[in-house]
Amino acid sequence: MSVLEKITSEELIALEDKYGAHNYHPLPVVLSRGEGVYVWDVEGKKYYDFLSAYSAVNQGHCHPKIVGAMVQQAQTLTLTSRAFYNDQLGPYEQFVTQYFGFDKMLPMNTGAEAVETALKLCRKWAYEVKGVAEHQAQIIVCEGNFHGRTTTIISFSNDENARRNFGPYTDGFIKIEYDNLEALEQALQSSPNVAGFLVEPIQGEAGVYVPSEGYLAKAKALCEQYNVLFIADEVQTGIARTGKLLAVHHENVQPDVLILGKAISGGVYPVSAVLANNSIMNVIKPGQHGSTFGGNPIAAAVAVAALEVVEEERLAQNAERLGIIFREKIGAYIQNSNIATLVRGKGLLNAIVINDVEESSTAWDICMALRDNGLLAKPTHGNIIRFAPPLVMTEPQLLECVGIITRTLQQFER
Ligand SMILES: Cc1ncc(COP(=O)(O)O)c(C=O)c1O
Repeated sequence: MSVLEKITSEELIALEDKYGAHNYHPLPVVLSRGEGVYVWDVEGKKYYDFLSAYSAVNQGHCHPKIVGAMVQQAQTLTLTSRAFYNDQLGPYEQFVTQYFGFDKMLPMNTGAEAVETALKLCRKWAYEVKGVAEHQAQIIVCEGNFHGRTTTIISFSNDENARRNFGPYTDGFIKIEYDNLEALEQALQSSPNVAGFLVEPIQGEAGVYVPSEGYLAKAKALCEQYNVLFIADEVQTGIARTGKLLAVHHENVQPDVLILGKAISGGVYPVSAVLANNSIMNVIKPGQHGSTFGGNPIAAAVAVAALEVVEEERLAQNAERLGIIFREKIGAYIQNSNIATLVRGKGLLNAIVINDVEESSTAWDICMALRDNGLLAKPTHGNIIRFAPPLVMTEPQLLECVGIITRTLQQFER
């Protein structure tokens, strides 16, 4: 046994604490193995994963087909940069555009990079196609949004913790209330310089806020009316998580610009993408945007395998079916609960609202107890816990998890 294998969870946490920047506040559990819906800590304790790396591991941990594609490609060709062509990117671009119904895609690595790409694409389209005067383009965003952590993206966040002391901020954004069509129409009317509307079809980080039925379809229609791009950030909601391939499909919406990340790789490799039709994507010319790793051969091979798994294993259908059972069972428990007030979500992206103030530690304490009981979840806010297991979960596994969650909640009833 090597020295490393003997290190305990406590010692590993101490190492991160001492040598790593404190930019996260992880639940104290140190994972060393994952398979399907399960993860194991370094002491060998097994847990159900109910976070799926913020919905990146929709296909389950270490999916053999996806890992196989990665290993094979890693042994063949890893990176060429886009200075040259590689034999994986073209077939991947053809596959992914047909899969989602767009003319073209632009490959990046992380979700935030893909959001940045979409914002740049939207601005350039505004100047070169819509005819907005230079530097005047405005993009509408929503209160409570989460689109990542770059300087521009945090400029239009209302999470003070994410913003404070990172200014000066980027201009050119109009913030409106989420799920409010009147506010959207007012903003669209406010200026001829509005170029796009950037929206999460369900606000994940904010606490799994599902907008009113019809909101997305009507928002898309309003954008069309005002010649404004409807930009869907499906980094968290996409790739079968909410019970459809994309969350916008619940309302039969095809966005003008689609942003994907996380589960497009099944969580094995950083892959993100922006998709749009030629009339939009063709404004980008050589040298105007890119990334050394974006569109690399491993990413391309991995993404094709990850998207094939979604179809082959009918993950959207499974998420839809299990999500209904989850909300029904937890909802029934909540009827007689003092500690939980609400369960909401779509497919297998759900949240439970805890009966306490947002600043409380109750949701955190419940997550600690869930951990002790063999299930890993994390609060999105002080009083909201998100539940997002891998979509390869079976019904018996889900029912066992519902049992763990309700038994744990019982420990907190007052
Ligand atoms: C909706 C949404 N957009 C963008 C991002 C940023 O993705 P990344 O962390 O890969 O930069 C996230 C991450 O949680 C997200 O939920």
